[in-house]
Amino acid sequence: MSLNLCPIILFFFFFFILTISRVGAIGINWGNTASHPLPPPKVVELLKSNNITKVKLFDADPLVLPALSGSNIGVTVGIPNTMLRSFNSSKKAAESWVHDNVTRYFSNGGSGVRIEYVAVGDEPFLQRYGEQFHPFVIGAATNIQAALIKANLEGKVRVVVPCSFDAFLSESNLPSKGHFRSDLNKTMIQLLTFLSKHGSPFFVTISPFVTIHQNKNISLAFSLFKETAHPHNDSHRTYKNSFDLSYDTLINALSIVGFPKIDIVVAQIGWPTDGATNATPSIAETFMKSLINHLHSKLGTPLRPQDPPIETYIFSLLDEDQRSITTGNFERHWGVFTFDGQAKYQVDFGQGSKNLVNAQNVEYLPSKWCVVNNNRDLSNASARASEACYVADCTALSPGGSCFNISWPGNISYAFNSFYQQHDQRTDSCDFGGLGLITTVDPSVGNCRFSVELHTSQSDSLHRACYFQWTTLLTTILVCLLRFTL
Ligand SMILES: *[C@@H]1O[C@H](CO)[C@@H](O)[C@H](O)[C@H]1NC(C)=O
Ligand SMILES: *[C@@H]1O[C@H](CO)[C@@H](O)[C@H](O)[C@H]1NC(C)=O
Ligand SMILES: *[C@@H]1O[C@H](CO)[C@@H](O)[C@H](O)[C@H]1NC(C)=O
Ligand SMILES: *[C@@H]1O[C@H](CO)[C@@H](O)[C@H](O)[C@H]1NC(C)=O
Ligand SMILES: *[C@@H]1O[C@H](CO)[C@@H](O)[C@H](O)[C@H]1NC(C)=O
Ligand SMILES: *[C@@H]1O[C@H](CO)[C@@H](O)[C@H](O)[C@H]1NC(C)=O
Ligand SMILES: *[C@@H]1O[C@H](CO)[C@@H](O)[C@H](O)[C@H]1NC(C)=O
Ligand SMILES: *[C@@H]1O[C@H](CO)[C@@H](O)[C@H](O)[C@H]1NC(C)=O
Ligand SMILES: *[C@@H]1O[C@H](CO)[C@@H](O)[C@H](O)[C@H]1NC(C)=O
Repeated sequence: MSLNLCPIILFFFFFFILTISRVGAIGINWGNTASHPLPPPKVVELLKSNNITKVKLFDADPLVLPALSGSNIGVTVGIPNTMLRSFNSSKKAAESWVHDNVTRYFSNGGSGVRIEYVAVGDEPFLQRYGEQFHPFVIGAATNIQAALIKANLEGKVRVVVPCSFDAFLSESNLPSKGHFRSDLNKTMIQLLTFLSKHGSPFFVTISPFVTIHQNKNISLAFSLFKETAHPHNDSHRTYKNSFDLSYDTLINALSIVGFPKIDIVVAQIGWPTDGATNATPSIAETFMKSLINHLHSKLGTPLRPQDPPIETYIFSLLDEDQRSITTGNFERHWGVFTFDGQAKYQVDFGQGSKNLVNAQNVEYLPSKWCVVNNNRDLSNASARASEACYVADCTALSPGGSCFNISWPGNISYAFNSFYQQHDQRTDSCDFGGLGLITTVDPSVGNCRFSVELHTSQSDSLHRACYFQWTTLLTTILVCLLRFTL
Protein backbone atom coordinates (compact mmCIF):
# COMPACT_ATOMS: atom_id res chain seq x y z
CA MET A 1 0.00 0.00 0.00
CA SER A 2 2.60 2.49 1.13
CA LEU A 3 4.88 1.28 -1.67
CA ASN A 4 2.17 2.04 -4.21
CA LEU A 5 1.70 5.53 -2.85
CA CYS A 6 5.37 6.32 -3.07
CA PRO A 7 5.54 7.16 -6.80
CA ILE A 8 2.43 9.30 -6.46
CA ILE A 9 3.91 11.21 -3.56
CA LEU A 10 7.17 11.58 -5.47
CA PHE A 11 5.28 12.80 -8.51
CA PHE A 12 3.47 15.44 -6.48
CA PHE A 13 6.71 16.36 -4.77
CA PHE A 14 8.49 17.01 -8.08
CA PHE A 15 5.44 18.68 -9.53
CA PHE A 16 5.45 20.97 -6.48
CA ILE A 17 9.17 21.74 -6.87
CA LEU A 18 8.69 22.46 -10.57
CA THR A 19 5.75 24.73 -9.90
CA ILE A 20 7.71 26.62 -7.27
CA SER A 21 10.74 27.08 -9.48
CA ARG A 22 8.57 28.56 -12.23
CA VAL A 23 7.20 31.35 -10.05
CA GLY A 24 9.35 34.28 -11.09
CA ALA A 25 10.70 36.18 -8.12
CA ILE A 26 9.49 39.71 -7.55
CA GLY A 27 12.06 42.33 -6.68
CA ILE A 28 12.13 46.10 -6.60
CA ASN A 29 14.19 48.99 -8.02
CA TRP A 30 15.94 51.21 -5.49
CA GLY A 31 17.04 54.52 -6.96
CA ASN A 32 18.71 57.39 -5.13
CA THR A 33 17.96 60.45 -7.26
CA ALA A 34 16.58 62.28 -4.26
CA SER A 35 17.57 65.50 -2.50
CA HIS A 36 17.24 63.77 0.89
CA PRO A 37 17.52 60.01 0.42
CA LEU A 38 16.25 57.78 3.21
CA PRO A 39 19.42 56.42 4.93
CA PRO A 40 20.45 53.08 3.34
CA PRO A 41 20.26 51.04 6.59
CA LYS A 42 16.62 52.19 6.99
CA VAL A 43 15.88 51.19 3.39
CA VAL A 44 17.38 47.74 3.88
CA GLU A 45 15.26 47.39 7.03
CA LEU A 46 12.22 48.37 4.94
CA LEU A 47 13.04 45.72 2.32
CA LYS A 48 13.55 43.03 4.94
CA SER A 49 10.40 43.79 6.91
CA ASN A 50 8.39 43.51 3.69
CA ASN A 51 10.03 40.23 2.64
CA ILE A 52 11.48 41.77 -0.53
CA THR A 53 14.26 39.41 -1.59
CA LYS A 54 15.70 41.09 -4.68
CA VAL A 55 16.73 44.66 -5.36
CA LYS A 56 18.02 46.45 -8.45
CA LEU A 57 20.33 49.43 -7.99
CA PHE A 58 21.37 52.04 -10.55
CA ASP A 59 24.97 52.34 -9.44
CA ALA A 60 27.34 50.92 -6.84
CA ASP A 61 26.95 53.50 -4.09
CA PRO A 62 29.58 52.91 -1.34
CA LEU A 63 26.93 53.79 1.27
CA VAL A 64 24.31 51.42 -0.14
CA LEU A 65 26.28 48.21 -0.74
CA PRO A 66 27.64 47.84 2.82
CA ALA A 67 24.06 48.32 4.10
CA LEU A 68 23.05 45.25 2.06
CA SER A 69 25.83 43.09 3.52
CA GLY A 70 24.59 39.98 5.21
CA SER A 71 20.97 40.68 4.23
CA ASN A 72 20.88 37.77 1.74
CA ILE A 73 18.95 40.08 -0.63
CA GLY A 74 19.81 39.38 -4.29
CA VAL A 75 21.36 42.54 -5.74
CA THR A 76 21.79 44.02 -9.21
CA VAL A 77 24.50 46.69 -9.23
CA GLY A 78 24.48 49.25 -12.02
CA ILE A 79 27.01 51.04 -14.18
CA PRO A 80 25.89 54.57 -15.13
CA ASN A 81 25.75 55.39 -18.85
CA THR A 82 28.48 57.99 -18.46
CA MET A 83 31.00 55.26 -17.57
CA LEU A 84 30.33 53.12 -20.65
CA ARG A 85 32.83 54.91 -22.88
CA SER A 86 35.72 54.26 -20.53
CA PHE A 87 34.81 50.59 -20.00
CA ASN A 88 34.56 50.06 -23.76
CA SER A 89 38.03 51.41 -24.35
CA SER A 90 39.83 50.12 -21.25
CA LYS A 91 39.93 46.59 -19.88
CA LYS A 92 41.87 47.99 -16.90
CA ALA A 93 39.05 50.42 -16.04
CA ALA A 94 36.52 47.58 -16.25
CA GLU A 95 38.70 45.43 -14.01
CA SER A 96 39.07 48.07 -11.35
CA TRP A 97 35.33 48.74 -11.39
CA VAL A 98 34.66 45.02 -10.87
CA HIS A 99 37.29 44.90 -8.15
CA ASP A 100 35.98 47.96 -6.28
CA ASN A 101 32.28 47.44 -6.77
CA VAL A 102 31.72 43.68 -7.05
CA THR A 103 34.63 41.56 -5.76
CA ARG A 104 35.09 43.68 -2.63
CA TYR A 105 31.48 43.08 -1.52
CA PHE A 106 30.57 39.78 -3.14
CA SER A 107 29.49 36.73 -1.27
CA ASN A 108 27.13 33.89 -2.04
CA GLY A 109 25.17 34.26 1.17
CA GLY A 110 27.15 34.87 4.35
CA SER A 111 28.29 38.29 5.44
CA GLY A 112 28.86 39.97 2.07
CA VAL A 113 26.47 41.18 -0.62
CA ARG A 114 24.69 38.59 -2.75
CA ILE A 115 25.38 40.31 -6.10
CA GLU A 116 23.57 38.49 -8.91
CA TYR A 117 23.78 40.87 -11.86
CA VAL A 118 25.82 43.78 -13.12
CA ALA A 119 23.62 46.07 -15.21
CA VAL A 120 25.79 47.71 -17.86
CA GLY A 121 24.22 51.14 -18.44
CA ASP A 122 20.88 52.50 -17.31
CA GLU A 123 18.60 52.07 -20.31
CA PRO A 124 21.35 53.28 -22.67
CA PHE A 125 19.05 52.78 -25.68
CA LEU A 126 16.36 55.24 -24.54
CA GLN A 127 15.30 57.03 -27.70
CA ARG A 128 15.81 60.48 -26.20
CA TYR A 129 19.54 59.77 -25.68
CA GLY A 130 19.96 59.36 -29.43
CA GLU A 131 22.85 57.10 -30.38
CA GLN A 132 25.37 58.56 -27.92
CA PHE A 133 25.83 55.33 -25.92
CA HIS A 134 25.20 52.68 -28.62
CA PRO A 135 28.86 52.33 -29.74
CA PHE A 136 30.10 51.58 -26.20
CA VAL A 137 27.51 49.19 -24.78
CA ILE A 138 28.73 45.87 -26.22
CA GLY A 139 32.41 46.68 -25.69
CA ALA A 140 31.74 47.71 -22.09
CA ALA A 141 29.65 44.58 -21.41
CA THR A 142 32.39 42.41 -22.94
CA ASN A 143 35.12 44.00 -20.80
CA ILE A 144 33.04 43.75 -17.63
CA GLN A 145 32.35 40.07 -18.42
CA ALA A 146 36.08 39.47 -18.93
CA ALA A 147 36.83 41.20 -15.62
CA LEU A 148 34.29 38.99 -13.84
CA ILE A 149 35.88 35.87 -15.34
CA LYS A 150 39.29 37.08 -14.16
CA ALA A 151 37.83 37.62 -10.68
CA ASN A 152 36.44 34.06 -10.67
CA LEU A 153 32.88 35.33 -10.62
CA GLU A 154 31.78 33.86 -13.94
CA GLY A 155 28.38 32.19 -13.63
CA LYS A 156 27.88 33.73 -10.19
CA VAL A 157 27.42 37.31 -11.36
CA ARG A 158 25.84 37.83 -14.75
CA VAL A 159 26.21 40.81 -17.05
CA VAL A 160 22.97 42.34 -18.38
CA VAL A 161 21.98 45.49 -20.28
CA PRO A 162 18.66 47.08 -19.22
CA CYS A 163 16.66 47.85 -22.31
CA SER A 164 14.08 50.66 -22.38
CA PHE A 165 10.40 50.20 -23.31
CA ASP A 166 10.93 52.31 -26.44
CA ALA A 167 13.60 50.01 -27.92
CA PHE A 168 10.85 47.91 -29.52
CA LEU A 169 7.54 48.83 -31.10
CA SER A 170 4.79 47.60 -33.38
CA GLU A 171 2.43 48.98 -35.97
CA SER A 172 -1.18 49.54 -34.78
CA ASN A 173 -0.48 47.80 -31.45
CA LEU A 174 -0.19 44.39 -33.11
CA PRO A 175 2.37 42.18 -31.32
CA SER A 176 2.87 40.16 -34.49
CA LYS A 177 4.26 43.34 -36.08
CA GLY A 178 6.74 43.85 -33.19
CA HIS A 179 10.33 44.76 -34.03
CA PHE A 180 13.30 46.64 -32.57
CA ARG A 181 13.78 50.30 -33.43
CA SER A 182 15.64 50.40 -36.71
CA ASP A 183 18.63 52.36 -35.31
CA LEU A 184 19.13 49.50 -32.83
CA ASN A 185 18.96 46.61 -35.27
CA LYS A 186 22.70 45.91 -35.37
CA THR A 187 23.43 46.62 -31.70
CA MET A 188 20.54 44.39 -30.57
CA ILE A 189 21.85 41.42 -32.52
CA GLN A 190 25.30 41.91 -30.98
CA LEU A 191 23.79 42.28 -27.52
CA LEU A 192 21.60 39.17 -27.83
CA THR A 193 24.54 37.16 -29.13
CA PHE A 194 26.59 38.30 -26.13
CA LEU A 195 23.81 37.52 -23.63
CA SER A 196 23.12 34.06 -25.07
CA LYS A 197 26.81 33.18 -25.06
CA HIS A 198 27.07 33.94 -21.34
CA GLY A 199 23.66 32.61 -20.27
CA SER A 200 22.42 36.08 -19.27
CA PRO A 201 18.75 37.03 -19.50
CA PHE A 202 17.34 39.99 -21.42
CA PHE A 203 16.51 42.87 -19.02
CA VAL A 204 13.66 45.04 -20.27
CA THR A 205 11.32 47.78 -19.08
CA ILE A 206 7.61 47.33 -19.74
CA SER A 207 5.61 50.47 -19.12
CA PRO A 208 1.83 50.19 -19.39
CA PHE A 209 1.55 53.65 -17.80
CA VAL A 210 3.76 55.43 -20.32
CA THR A 211 2.05 53.45 -23.08
CA ILE A 212 -1.37 54.78 -22.09
CA HIS A 213 0.11 58.25 -21.47
CA GLN A 214 1.40 58.35 -25.05
CA ASN A 215 -1.11 56.18 -26.90
CA LYS A 216 -4.70 57.30 -26.96
CA ASN A 217 -5.87 53.99 -28.40
CA ILE A 218 -5.13 51.95 -25.24
CA SER A 219 -7.82 52.11 -22.56
CA LEU A 220 -7.20 52.42 -18.83
CA ALA A 221 -9.16 49.21 -18.22
CA PHE A 222 -6.86 47.37 -20.66
CA SER A 223 -3.78 48.68 -18.81
CA LEU A 224 -5.25 47.63 -15.45
CA PHE A 225 -5.94 43.98 -16.46
CA LYS A 226 -9.72 44.59 -16.08
CA GLU A 227 -11.94 41.69 -17.20
CA THR A 228 -14.24 44.25 -18.78
CA ALA A 229 -11.51 45.72 -21.02
CA HIS A 230 -12.09 45.56 -24.75
CA PRO A 231 -9.57 42.97 -26.01
CA HIS A 232 -7.11 43.69 -28.83
CA ASN A 233 -7.12 41.03 -31.53
CA ASP A 234 -4.03 40.10 -33.47
CA SER A 235 -5.21 37.66 -36.14
CA HIS A 236 -6.22 34.58 -34.09
CA ARG A 237 -4.58 35.78 -30.84
CA THR A 238 -6.52 37.79 -28.29
CA TYR A 239 -4.84 40.22 -25.93
CA LYS A 240 -6.70 41.08 -22.74
CA ASN A 241 -4.20 43.48 -21.19
CA SER A 242 -1.47 45.95 -22.06
CA PHE A 243 1.28 43.95 -20.31
CA ASP A 244 0.76 40.87 -22.49
CA LEU A 245 0.53 43.05 -25.59
CA SER A 246 3.90 44.72 -24.88
CA TYR A 247 5.52 41.47 -23.81
CA ASP A 248 4.57 39.67 -27.00
CA THR A 249 5.61 42.68 -29.09
CA LEU A 250 9.04 42.17 -27.52
CA ILE A 251 8.94 38.38 -28.08
CA ASN A 252 8.24 39.02 -31.73
CA ALA A 253 11.08 41.56 -31.98
CA LEU A 254 13.42 38.99 -30.42
CA SER A 255 12.20 36.26 -32.77
CA ILE A 256 12.78 38.36 -35.88
CA VAL A 257 16.45 38.81 -34.99
CA GLY A 258 16.82 35.10 -34.14
CA PHE A 259 16.46 34.90 -30.33
CA PRO A 260 12.90 33.71 -29.69
CA LYS A 261 13.75 31.71 -26.57
CA ILE A 262 15.97 34.00 -24.50
CA ASP A 263 14.97 34.34 -20.82
CA ILE A 264 13.33 37.64 -19.95
CA VAL A 265 13.58 39.68 -16.79
CA VAL A 266 11.16 42.59 -16.49
CA ALA A 267 13.67 45.04 -15.06
CA GLN A 268 11.24 47.91 -14.45
CA ILE A 269 7.47 47.97 -14.24
CA GLY A 270 5.23 50.18 -12.13
CA TRP A 271 2.61 52.86 -11.94
CA PRO A 272 3.18 56.44 -10.67
CA THR A 273 0.87 58.10 -8.15
CA ASP A 274 1.11 61.81 -8.89
CA GLY A 275 1.95 64.43 -11.50
CA ALA A 276 -0.36 63.26 -14.31
CA THR A 277 -3.87 62.11 -15.12
CA ASN A 278 -4.42 58.48 -14.04
CA ALA A 279 -1.42 58.71 -11.72
CA THR A 280 -3.09 58.14 -8.35
CA PRO A 281 -2.43 55.78 -5.44
CA SER A 282 -5.71 53.94 -5.97
CA ILE A 283 -5.09 53.30 -9.69
CA ALA A 284 -1.50 52.30 -8.89
CA GLU A 285 -2.80 49.84 -6.28
CA THR A 286 -5.17 48.27 -8.80
CA PHE A 287 -2.39 47.96 -11.36
CA MET A 288 0.12 46.49 -8.93
CA LYS A 289 -2.27 43.95 -7.42
CA SER A 290 -3.45 42.83 -10.87
CA LEU A 291 0.11 42.60 -12.18
CA ILE A 292 1.21 40.44 -9.26
CA ASN A 293 -1.87 38.20 -9.61
CA HIS A 294 -1.14 37.91 -13.32
CA LEU A 295 2.49 36.91 -12.66
CA HIS A 296 1.46 34.44 -9.95
CA SER A 297 -1.13 32.87 -12.24
CA LYS A 298 1.82 31.68 -14.38
CA LEU A 299 -0.43 31.89 -17.44
CA GLY A 300 2.23 33.62 -19.50
CA THR A 301 1.25 35.39 -22.70
CA PRO A 302 -0.21 34.11 -25.99
CA LEU A 303 3.30 33.83 -27.50
CA ARG A 304 4.85 32.42 -24.30
CA PRO A 305 2.14 30.43 -22.56
CA GLN A 306 3.10 29.07 -19.13
CA ASP A 307 6.38 30.95 -19.44
CA PRO A 308 6.20 34.25 -17.54
CA PRO A 309 9.30 36.45 -16.98
CA ILE A 310 11.89 34.70 -14.82
CA GLU A 311 12.05 37.75 -12.53
CA THR A 312 10.17 41.03 -12.28
CA TYR A 313 11.44 44.22 -10.62
CA ILE A 314 8.82 46.71 -9.52
CA PHE A 315 9.58 50.32 -10.34
CA SER A 316 10.06 51.71 -7.79
CA LEU A 317 10.67 51.48 -4.07
CA LEU A 318 10.65 55.19 -3.14
CA ASP A 319 9.74 58.54 -4.70
CA GLU A 320 12.77 60.49 -5.93
CA ASP A 321 12.40 64.27 -6.08
CA GLN A 322 15.33 64.87 -8.42
CA ARG A 323 14.55 62.46 -11.25
CA SER A 324 14.49 64.02 -14.70
CA ILE A 325 10.97 65.08 -15.73
CA THR A 326 11.69 65.12 -19.47
CA THR A 327 9.15 62.32 -19.98
CA GLY A 328 6.59 63.82 -17.61
CA ASN A 329 5.95 65.19 -14.12
CA PHE A 330 4.93 61.69 -12.95
CA GLU A 331 8.61 60.62 -13.08
CA ARG A 332 9.20 61.66 -9.46
CA HIS A 333 6.28 59.60 -8.12
CA TRP A 334 6.93 55.97 -9.04
CA GLY A 335 7.42 54.83 -5.43
CA VAL A 336 5.28 52.18 -3.78
CA PHE A 337 6.47 54.11 -0.72
CA THR A 338 6.74 57.88 -0.33
CA PHE A 339 10.22 59.47 -0.13
CA ASP A 340 10.15 58.81 3.63
CA GLY A 341 9.26 55.13 3.35
CA GLN A 342 5.51 55.21 4.07
CA ALA A 343 3.35 52.85 1.99
CA LYS A 344 1.06 54.71 -0.43
CA TYR A 345 -1.22 51.70 -0.89
CA GLN A 346 -1.34 47.99 -0.17
CA VAL A 347 0.10 45.20 -2.29
CA ASP A 348 1.52 41.75 -1.56
CA PHE A 349 5.28 41.47 -2.19
CA GLY A 350 5.61 38.23 -0.28
CA GLN A 351 4.41 39.40 3.12
CA GLY A 352 1.12 37.57 2.59
CA SER A 353 -2.15 39.11 3.60
CA LYS A 354 -0.48 41.55 5.98
CA ASN A 355 -0.16 45.25 5.27
CA LEU A 356 3.10 46.67 4.00
CA VAL A 357 5.42 47.71 6.82
CA ASN A 358 6.53 51.37 6.79
CA ALA A 359 10.06 52.64 7.47
CA GLN A 360 10.57 52.98 11.22
CA ASN A 361 12.09 55.80 13.31
CA VAL A 362 12.45 58.11 10.33
CA GLU A 363 14.22 61.35 11.29
CA TYR A 364 12.67 64.50 9.89
CA LEU A 365 13.72 68.14 9.94
CA PRO A 366 11.70 70.23 12.46
CA SER A 367 7.93 70.67 11.84
CA LYS A 368 8.31 73.92 9.94
CA TRP A 369 7.02 75.01 6.56
CA CYS A 370 7.55 78.00 4.29
CA VAL A 371 4.40 79.68 2.92
CA VAL A 372 3.60 82.91 1.11
CA ASN A 373 2.99 85.93 3.35
CA ASN A 374 -0.54 87.04 2.45
CA ASN A 375 0.03 90.46 4.01
CA ARG A 376 2.46 91.42 1.26
CA ASP A 377 1.92 92.70 -2.29
CA LEU A 378 1.76 89.40 -4.17
CA SER A 379 1.99 90.80 -7.71
CA ASN A 380 5.42 89.20 -8.19
CA ALA A 381 4.67 86.00 -6.25
CA SER A 382 3.97 83.81 -9.28
CA ALA A 383 7.27 84.76 -10.87
CA ARG A 384 9.08 83.94 -7.61
CA ALA A 385 7.29 80.57 -7.41
CA SER A 386 8.27 79.69 -10.97
CA GLU A 387 11.90 80.42 -10.14
CA ALA A 388 11.62 78.21 -7.04
CA CYS A 389 10.09 75.40 -9.12
CA TYR A 390 13.12 75.45 -11.37
CA VAL A 391 15.08 73.67 -8.62
CA ALA A 392 12.31 72.58 -6.23
CA ASP A 393 9.84 69.76 -6.93
CA CYS A 394 6.53 71.25 -8.07
CA THR A 395 5.34 68.19 -9.99
CA ALA A 396 2.33 67.69 -7.69
CA LEU A 397 0.96 71.02 -9.00
CA SER A 398 0.65 69.78 -12.58
CA PRO A 399 -2.73 68.87 -14.13
CA GLY A 400 -4.01 65.67 -12.54
CA GLY A 401 -1.52 66.06 -9.68
CA SER A 402 -2.40 65.87 -5.97
CA CYS A 403 -2.01 69.65 -5.52
CA PHE A 404 -3.49 70.77 -8.84
CA ASN A 405 -6.70 71.87 -7.13
CA ILE A 406 -5.19 74.11 -4.45
CA SER A 407 -5.92 77.58 -5.72
CA TRP A 408 -3.62 80.59 -5.94
CA PRO A 409 -1.78 81.55 -3.74
CA GLY A 410 -1.79 78.06 -2.16
CA ASN A 411 0.20 76.82 -5.12
CA ILE A 412 2.77 79.58 -4.49
CA SER A 413 3.14 78.37 -0.91
CA TYR A 414 3.60 74.81 -2.19
CA ALA A 415 6.49 75.92 -4.41
CA PHE A 416 8.08 78.02 -1.65
CA ASN A 417 7.87 75.12 0.80
CA SER A 418 9.39 72.60 -1.57
CA PHE A 419 12.33 74.96 -2.15
CA TYR A 420 12.72 75.58 1.59
CA GLN A 421 12.68 71.86 2.48
CA GLN A 422 15.15 70.98 -0.29
CA HIS A 423 17.48 73.57 1.23
CA ASP A 424 17.25 71.96 4.68
CA GLN A 425 14.93 74.68 6.02
CA ARG A 426 17.63 77.31 5.88
CA THR A 427 16.07 80.64 6.86
CA ASP A 428 17.48 82.37 3.77
CA SER A 429 15.73 79.81 1.53
CA CYS A 430 12.31 81.12 2.66
CA ASP A 431 12.97 84.72 1.69
CA PHE A 432 11.61 85.15 -1.84
CA GLY A 433 12.12 88.90 -1.77
CA GLY A 434 10.24 89.20 1.52
CA LEU A 435 7.25 87.13 0.31
CA GLY A 436 8.11 84.00 2.32
CA LEU A 437 6.95 83.26 5.85
CA ILE A 438 8.03 80.38 8.08
CA THR A 439 5.16 78.68 9.94
CA THR A 440 4.74 75.78 12.35
CA VAL A 441 1.16 75.13 11.19
CA ASP A 442 1.00 72.33 8.59
CA PRO A 443 -0.41 73.95 5.41
CA SER A 444 -1.38 70.58 3.83
CA VAL A 445 -4.91 70.46 2.39
CA GLY A 446 -6.75 67.25 1.51
CA ASN A 447 -4.53 65.00 -0.60
CA CYS A 448 -2.06 67.81 -1.15
CA ARG A 449 0.77 67.13 1.25
CA PHE A 450 3.25 69.89 2.12
CA SER A 451 6.16 67.73 3.13
CA VAL A 452 8.83 68.19 5.76
CA GLU A 453 12.09 66.79 4.44
CA LEU A 454 14.22 64.10 6.01
CA HIS A 455 17.02 64.89 8.36
CA THR A 456 20.22 63.66 6.74
CA SER A 457 23.86 63.90 7.75
CA GLN A 458 24.08 66.36 4.85
CA SER A 459 21.59 68.65 6.63
CA ASP A 460 23.98 68.79 9.59
CA SER A 461 26.93 69.72 7.42
CA LEU A 462 24.89 72.39 5.61
CA HIS A 463 23.86 73.92 8.91
CA ARG A 464 27.47 73.71 10.03
CA ALA A 465 28.67 75.34 6.81
CA CYS A 466 26.19 78.13 7.28
CA TYR A 467 27.13 78.56 10.93
CA PHE A 468 30.75 78.52 9.88
CA GLN A 469 30.19 81.32 7.35
CA TRP A 470 28.48 83.46 9.94
CA THR A 471 31.13 82.91 12.60
CA THR A 472 33.88 83.61 10.05
CA LEU A 473 32.14 86.80 9.03
CA LEU A 474 31.73 87.92 12.65
CA THR A 475 35.34 87.10 13.44
CA THR A 476 36.49 89.08 10.40
CA ILE A 477 34.43 92.06 11.47
CA LEU A 478 35.77 91.84 15.03
CA VAL A 479 39.34 91.58 13.78
CA CYS A 480 38.76 94.61 11.52
CA LEU A 481 37.24 96.60 14.37
CA LEU A 482 40.15 95.67 16.64
CA ARG A 483 42.69 96.69 14.00
CA PHE A 484 40.81 99.91 13.46
CA THR A 485 40.72 100.79 17.15
CA LEU A 486 44.34 99.79 17.81
C1 LIG B 1 35.46 50.66 -28.19
O1 LIG B 1 36.64 49.99 -27.81
C2 LIG B 1 37.33 49.38 -28.88
C3 LIG B 1 38.48 48.56 -28.31
O2 LIG B 1 39.31 49.37 -27.52
C4 LIG B 1 37.80 50.44 -29.86
O3 LIG B 1 38.46 49.84 -30.97
C5 LIG B 1 36.59 51.22 -30.34
O4 LIG B 1 37.01 52.28 -31.15
C6 LIG B 1 35.80 51.76 -29.16
N1 LIG B 1 34.59 52.35 -29.68
C7 LIG B 1 34.39 53.64 -29.65
C8 LIG B 1 33.13 54.12 -30.28
O5 LIG B 1 35.15 54.43 -29.11
C1 LIG C 1 32.54 52.07 -8.26
O1 LIG C 1 31.23 52.61 -8.37
C2 LIG C 1 31.11 53.92 -7.89
C3 LIG C 1 29.65 54.31 -7.90
O2 LIG C 1 29.07 54.15 -9.17
C4 LIG C 1 31.99 54.83 -8.74
O3 LIG C 1 31.92 56.15 -8.26
C5 LIG C 1 33.43 54.34 -8.70
O4 LIG C 1 34.21 55.11 -9.58
C6 LIG C 1 33.50 52.88 -9.10
N1 LIG C 1 34.87 52.40 -8.96
C7 LIG C 1 35.69 52.25 -10.01
C8 LIG C 1 37.07 51.78 -9.71
O5 LIG C 1 35.34 52.46 -11.17
C1 LIG D 1 -7.52 51.10 -31.87
O1 LIG D 1 -7.76 49.83 -31.25
C2 LIG D 1 -8.81 49.08 -31.81
C3 LIG D 1 -8.95 47.80 -31.00
O2 LIG D 1 -9.06 48.09 -29.65
C4 LIG D 1 -8.53 48.77 -33.29
O3 LIG D 1 -9.62 48.11 -33.82
C5 LIG D 1 -8.26 50.07 -34.02
O4 LIG D 1 -7.85 49.79 -35.34
C6 LIG D 1 -7.16 50.89 -33.33
N1 LIG D 1 -6.97 52.17 -33.99
C7 LIG D 1 -5.77 52.65 -34.29
C8 LIG D 1 -5.74 53.98 -34.93
O5 LIG D 1 -4.74 52.04 -34.06
C1 LIG E 1 16.70 44.76 -39.11
O1 LIG E 1 17.17 43.43 -39.19
C2 LIG E 1 16.24 42.50 -39.73
C3 LIG E 1 16.84 41.11 -39.65
O2 LIG E 1 18.19 41.11 -40.01
C4 LIG E 1 15.88 42.92 -41.14
O3 LIG E 1 14.90 42.05 -41.64
C5 LIG E 1 15.33 44.34 -41.12
O4 LIG E 1 15.08 44.78 -42.42
C6 LIG E 1 16.31 45.28 -40.46
N1 LIG E 1 15.71 46.59 -40.35
C7 LIG E 1 16.39 47.69 -40.58
C8 LIG E 1 15.62 48.96 -40.47
O5 LIG E 1 17.56 47.71 -40.87
C1 LIG F 1 -11.66 39.60 -31.08
O1 LIG F 1 -11.82 38.19 -31.11
C2 LIG F 1 -12.83 37.71 -30.26
C3 LIG F 1 -12.80 36.20 -30.26
O2 LIG F 1 -12.06 35.71 -31.34
C4 LIG F 1 -14.18 38.28 -30.73
O3 LIG F 1 -15.20 37.83 -29.88
C5 LIG F 1 -14.11 39.80 -30.71
O4 LIG F 1 -15.30 40.35 -31.23
C6 LIG F 1 -12.94 40.29 -31.49
N1 LIG F 1 -12.81 41.73 -31.27
C7 LIG F 1 -12.55 42.60 -32.25
C8 LIG F 1 -12.44 44.04 -31.85
O5 LIG F 1 -12.39 42.26 -33.39
C1 LIG G 1 7.91 37.26 5.79
O1 LIG G 1 7.95 35.88 5.63
C2 LIG G 1 8.03 35.17 6.84
C3 LIG G 1 8.20 33.68 6.54
O2 LIG G 1 7.86 33.40 5.22
C4 LIG G 1 6.78 35.44 7.65
O3 LIG G 1 6.87 34.76 8.89
C5 LIG G 1 6.67 36.93 7.92
O4 LIG G 1 5.46 37.22 8.59
C6 LIG G 1 6.71 37.68 6.62
N1 LIG G 1 6.81 39.12 6.89
C7 LIG G 1 5.77 39.94 6.85
C8 LIG G 1 6.05 41.38 7.08
O5 LIG G 1 4.65 39.56 6.62
C1 LIG H 1 8.05 93.18 -9.15
O1 LIG H 1 9.20 92.97 -9.97
C2 LIG H 1 9.57 94.10 -10.72
C3 LIG H 1 10.69 93.72 -11.66
O2 LIG H 1 11.66 92.94 -10.95
C4 LIG H 1 9.94 95.24 -9.79
O3 LIG H 1 10.28 96.38 -10.53
C5 LIG H 1 8.76 95.55 -8.86
O4 LIG H 1 9.12 96.49 -7.91
C6 LIG H 1 8.30 94.28 -8.13
N1 LIG H 1 7.08 94.56 -7.41
C7 LIG H 1 6.94 94.28 -6.13
C8 LIG H 1 5.61 94.60 -5.52
O5 LIG H 1 7.84 93.77 -5.44
C1 LIG I 1 -10.11 68.81 -8.72
O1 LIG I 1 -11.39 69.40 -8.71
C2 LIG I 1 -12.24 68.89 -9.69
C3 LIG I 1 -13.52 69.70 -9.66
O2 LIG I 1 -13.87 70.04 -8.37
C4 LIG I 1 -12.50 67.41 -9.39
O3 LIG I 1 -13.35 66.87 -10.36
C5 LIG I 1 -11.17 66.69 -9.42
O4 LIG I 1 -11.34 65.33 -9.07
C6 LIG I 1 -10.20 67.32 -8.46
N1 LIG I 1 -8.89 66.71 -8.67
C7 LIG I 1 -8.12 66.33 -7.68
C8 LIG I 1 -6.81 65.75 -8.07
O5 LIG I 1 -8.43 66.45 -6.51
C1 LIG J 1 -0.55 79.10 -9.39
O1 LIG J 1 -1.83 79.33 -9.89
C2 LIG J 1 -1.91 80.50 -10.70
C3 LIG J 1 -3.37 80.72 -11.04
O2 LIG J 1 -3.99 79.53 -11.43
C4 LIG J 1 -1.04 80.29 -11.94
O3 LIG J 1 -1.08 81.42 -12.76
C5 LIG J 1 0.40 80.04 -11.51
O4 LIG J 1 1.21 79.74 -12.63
C6 LIG J 1 0.45 78.88 -10.53
N1 LIG J 1 1.82 78.76 -10.05
C7 LIG J 1 2.45 77.60 -9.90
C8 LIG J 1 3.81 77.63 -9.35
O5 LIG J 1 1.91 76.53 -10.16
